[in-house]
Amino acid sequence: MKEIFSKRMKYVQPSAIRELLAMGAREDIISFGGGYPAPELFPVEAMKVVFEDVMDRVGTKALQYSLTEGIPELREKIAARMAKSGVPCESDDVIVVQGGQQGLDLIAKLYINPGDVIITEQPTFLGALIAFNPYEPQYKSIPMDEEGMRMDALEEALKETPNVKLIYTVPDFHNPTGITMSLERRKALIALANQYGVVVIEDTPYREIRYEGTPIPPIKHFDTEGRVIYLGSFSKILAPGMRLGWVSAEQTILQKIGLLKLAADTQSSTLNMYLAEGYMRLYDLDAHIEDIRTLYKKKKDLMVSIIQSEFPASVKYTNPEGGLFLWMTFPEEIRAEAFLKDHLIPKAKVAYVVGDGFYPLSPEYNHCRINYSGASEEQIIKGMTAFGHLLKEQMKYGV
Ligand SMILES: Cc1ncc(COP(=O)(O)O)c(C=O)c1O
Repeated sequence: MKEIFSKRMKYVQPSAIRELLAMGAREDIISFGGGYPAPELFPVEAMKVVFEDVMDRVGTKALQYSLTEGIPELREKIAARMAKSGVPCESDDVIVVQGGQQGLDLIAKLYINPGDVIITEQPTFLGALIAFNPYEPQYKSIPMDEEGMRMDALEEALKETPNVKLIYTVPDFHNPTGITMSLERRKALIALANQYGVVVIEDTPYREIRYEGTPIPPIKHFDTEGRVIYLGSFSKILAPGMRLGWVSAEQTILQKIGLLKLAADTQSSTLNMYLAEGYMRLYDLDAHIEDIRTLYKKKKDLMVSIIQSEFPASVKYTNPEGGLFLWMTFPEEIRAEAFLKDHLIPKAKVAYVVGDGFYPLSPEYNHCRINYSGASEEQIIKGMTAFGHLLKEQMKYGV
């Protein structure tokens, strides 16, 4: 049959994430691949109580269509949380979306004409590239160091690139590297965005999962010109299956995002919005997040201790202060994809996400992203020990 799909489908290709999520579902594989929160902390019993409360208290309204922007009660609670984290916010400054992922799609739809430039970190969140690609952007990617996106390289890119529309950043416990942008860099980023008239997407689903160090204000805290679009999510602090996140931005931007959301899906699930709001009404979300932090710190420390004791010393890794991932760098001669497919999966039944897919341009092939939240402590011990031993063996004989 003659292909009649739109041209943009050329930019919509199967991704490593999809393959990896499928692999994560295989019973015989210990997967450090996905970005799954720890299932043992999902509040199943509490949600039963909340569901009954919502049915009793809200009844048919919870099963009806509601507003594109989200139910007012939930927007209010989100706004209060934003204000607490350092971003003055009213409920009108928030739109509820189906996870941060929908926010990324709607923002790209709002700003990007084919050929417009999006600046990202290098590496960056693969799901963002997947959301942006159908709008046919060009990318510039900015190297990172231990303080996040490098501002000298950002300034250079802004200077030499005329049609930059967006800077996309994951400043807190970055996906995939686990790195957090320093205070100075946040201020410098805003100054550059103001100077060059660019909009910033601050994508921060991991912000509240900090288990070490001192919290740093969001980039939006320093935003004096309304150029930061803040993306938050309930996926990592409550449950990703609810598909709830939010966009907070200046009114003119938010109203347009509302129009695009209406066209895309009318609204987020009324029932899920009432359930999230009901959970925060009956239970203490902050106490729940504290439990998440405690568990993830334990899992991260366990993983790092195994890397220290069982991995070759030439393997480098980040040691994040929060979030779900660490980033591993093998010596250059080891290709992460070949090692995964030819050795790690068949011999150790362990998986990670290969790093090159996180580069919008010029991939590096010797990195992998490792998730420590989704696996049990037993799986971390077994899987990471086998991983380290196999790596040592391969480095001895060559991969
Ligand atoms: C940086 C980043 N942004 C956005 C998302 C999307 O999350 P969700 O749509 O579940 O809110 C993720 C998920 O892993 C992420 O890591």
